[in-house]
Amino acid sequence: MSSIDILEICQPDDWHLHVRDGEFLPDLLKHTASQFQRAIIMPNLKPPVTTAEMAMAYRQRIISALPKGSAFEPLMVLYLTDNTSPEQVKRAKEAGVVGFKLYPAGATTNSDAGVTDIQKCAAALDAMSDCGMPLLVHGEVTHAEIDVFDREAVFIEQVLEPLRSRHPGLKIVFEHITTKQAAQYVEAADTKRMGAIAATITPQHLLFNRNAIFSGGVRPHYYCLPILKREEHRLELVRVATSGNSRFFLGTDSAPHLKGTKENACGCAGCYTAWHAMPLYAEAFDAANALDKLEAFASHFGPDFYQLPRNTGRLTLKRQTQDIPEDFPMGAGTVVPLRAGETVAWTIVG
Ligand code: NCD
Ligand code: ZN
Repeated sequence: MSSIDILEICQPDDWHLHVRDGEFLPDLLKHTASQFQRAIIMPNLKPPVTTAEMAMAYRQRIISALPKGSAFEPLMVLYLTDNTSPEQVKRAKEAGVVGFKLYPAGATTNSDAGVTDIQKCAAALDAMSDCGMPLLVHGEVTHAEIDVFDREAVFIEQVLEPLRSRHPGLKIVFEHITTKQAAQYVEAADTKRMGAIAATITPQHLLFNRNAIFSGGVRPHYYCLPILKREEHRLELVRVATSGNSRFFLGTDSAPHLKGTKENACGCAGCYTAWHAMPLYAEAFDAANALDKLEAFASHFGPDFYQLPRNTGRLTLKRQTQDIPEDFPMGAGTVVPLRAGETVAWTIVG
């Protein structure tokens, strides 16, 4: 822990966020918009957001649901499918879509329409390379025989490395990395012969290991995908996040589900962190004695990778413990945040 008590940084962006749709939007967006200037909005709705037209309509629904006067900017990505065509890629680029998201079919919440075999997407991926459109990947294989804790490491060998070799011009974001294999792969990746690569890291994967899911009983609010891993992996994620390496930047993967669908015999995957995202990251960086590295991770490296301007606004955090509420409204129901009913050591004060 350092002696810094007030931390003023360039306003951050969230490079991986779920805000769902319809009646849920106003409750969820106000938490994100109070900290972040921009966020990449994940397209795993039902049905998924697969065309530029759908993305622009979704963007408009988000903007209409923002708190009055908010300057928050949603950045849209499309859901890659086996049938995404090069023309759809071109149209997306022209419409201002910032990337495509690869969900291996069945990997996570609402991914049934995902890619069954990435080789089917070759023409779309070439079109993405040609127009500089990044591919955001949910990096897990989905074969039932692969242990759930190994799915990310196996994805690197079986899918990611071959994909980068076949499409050496493709820019890739390895989303929400959770293992030392992913951290070290991104850190060491050759970007001279192959396309640029970066990774996002969530607050829960910096703060918790897999024991959190099982401490004293099953704790569904710590269940997300990719699942929390062993302590040695958490330590490696903290190391790369706080290393000042521009390949690693912030993406909360805040993924709200109604309380009853988490506290359930077959509970949904996803942690809700939008309300306290920056305080949670500050706590993780503080514990590693690296608060001075938080600004670049949260506010510089993301826009640099996506070739967007850095924000001009500021955000101030204070070392001041606050209670995390038990739940928040989410439409007609509620959503339980990560670490509900406990505390977080930092507070946003400006
Ligand atoms: C996400 C969701 O609920 O949409 N869940 C999760 O556990 N992260 C999907 C995803 O990003 O994998
Ligand atoms: Zn996600």
